[in-house]
Amino acid sequence: MIMWKRFFVLILPILVYSNEIHYKQYHQQSNNGSRQHPPSPFDKSYQMIVLTGGKVYGISDSTREHVNKPQNMDIVIAAEKIFALINPSKTASFVNSMKDQGLTVLSISVENQVVMPGLIDTHVHAIGGGGEQGPYSRTAESRLSRLIDGGLTSVVGLLGTDGLTRSLSALLQKMKGLEHDGLSTWMWVGSYRIPIVTLTSSLQQDLVFIDKVLGAGELALSDHRSSWPSKSELIQLISDVRVGGMLSGKPGIIHFHMGSSPEKLDLLWQILNETTIPIRHIYPTHISSRGDALLDEAEKWIKAGGVCDFTADIPDLNETDTMNALNKFRNKNLPLKQITVSSDAYGSIPEYDASGQLISYDMAPPDLALKTIQALVLKYAWPLEEAIQFSTVNPAVYLNLDRKGFLIENYDADILVLNQTDLKPLYVFGKGQILKTPTWTKHDMFEPMD
Ligand SMILES: *[C@@H]1O[C@H](CO)[C@@H](O)[C@H](O)[C@H]1NC(C)=O
Ligand SMILES: *[C@@H]1O[C@H](CO)[C@@H](O)[C@H](O)[C@H]1NC(C)=O
Ligand SMILES: *[C@@H]1O[C@H](CO)[C@@H](O)[C@H](O)[C@H]1NC(C)=O
Ligand SMILES: *[C@@H]1O[C@H](CO)[C@@H](O)[C@H](O)[C@H]1NC(C)=O
Repeated sequence: MIMWKRFFVLILPILVYSNEIHYKQYHQQSNNGSRQHPPSPFDKSYQMIVLTGGKVYGISDSTREHVNKPQNMDIVIAAEKIFALINPSKTASFVNSMKDQGLTVLSISVENQVVMPGLIDTHVHAIGGGGEQGPYSRTAESRLSRLIDGGLTSVVGLLGTDGLTRSLSALLQKMKGLEHDGLSTWMWVGSYRIPIVTLTSSLQQDLVFIDKVLGAGELALSDHRSSWPSKSELIQLISDVRVGGMLSGKPGIIHFHMGSSPEKLDLLWQILNETTIPIRHIYPTHISSRGDALLDEAEKWIKAGGVCDFTADIPDLNETDTMNALNKFRNKNLPLKQITVSSDAYGSIPEYDASGQLISYDMAPPDLALKTIQALVLKYAWPLEEAIQFSTVNPAVYLNLDRKGFLIENYDADILVLNQTDLKPLYVFGKGQILKTPTWTKHDMFEPMD
């Protein structure tokens, strides 16, 4: 039963898009608004949007323990939230009654298409990264439309090798901009090295005073670009993040970049063995892309109750490590709930030979989490409900992201509609706002035309 009455006590803000000021005078040529505002009929303001006829993934009860099989449900979006999931046989009368009450309602038919939670990417170099080949090799800043086309509605930004000419204040400002444009954003403070860079001069203060900060990362370990922190320095940092997490009511996590040195996770295991710090505060990444020895460690990590992040393969570079790792872990019946997949978008991809010489250089695009899902389903025949967990349910639960990762009543209306055949995105909604239609994707204010 839908509690229709509940609806009328809500004050409904206007959906679809906010009316922003456009720099018409100077930027008429490059940005006349058509890239920021959707085409008709999506360009008007609606108090309610109804997605009809879709096959809905990511439904759970509020305990979030168990994700249901896909269901044929219609989804009602209002006031930035999922207002209701309703049985399709009831939709017509529901919509009519809303219209009778004077509400503006847009119905969008997504017949038989995949409707699922928007993707969460825990590792995005949102203001660019790189620089390992000198000043000219700094990578580009992320662009809104590329993030949206990658199905992303939640993004965690971070710095990497360069914590010197890239600043956390620039990153915070960027994450706020993306939030304004319809995504949900967080960030890690720090960079590869210690002493870690922070916003306020202390990791604990950053966690407590700055909402977007989830912890620190990506702190490099077992990598020639790391600052080789000692065990005691690491213990200090991890206990800082734990207590900062407690005081701020956040999980409090250090996100570790794992390199390919033979030390692997040794230091982290020692810390866990010698202290009472829970494993959940330590979140290693790149763990599927550095060979079998590190992957074996990942298996141990998961069995010990930890969560690992796998960096998505880049199909254009013929990478298959992560795909192989996911298939292997699934075949071994390991708890896949403890794995997330992130893109490392806008990070550089330097490749070094055995003597440490750079032999190639590239940059990761932001659609790799989506491409992972496409490959798992279309190439490896995974059920879609299993394939999506690494970038929806799993990071939402692990990072305790409020009202994210599932399609549950009252959760944020972060919704991705995929073509059932090729799993390419048709629509993206971020907190109820239309960010993408089949013919249009929202651009940021100064994004160049393609
Ligand atoms: C805005 O730019 C788009 C893309 O170049 C163009 O198709 C459209 O006609 C322009 N609209 C106006 C009002 O100038
Ligand atoms: C830490 O403890 C685990 C599990 O008891 C054990 O397998 C591992 O060898 C220990 N590692 C170190 C570095 O002490
Ligand atoms: C990827 O594999 C294809 C087919 O084997 C090959 O043609 C292409 O050159 C490879 N690309 C890269 C970047 O190695
Ligand atoms: C979905 O993808 C298939 C195959 O690429 C295509 O034929 C079809 O037109 C697409 N459907 C929509 C609604 O875009």
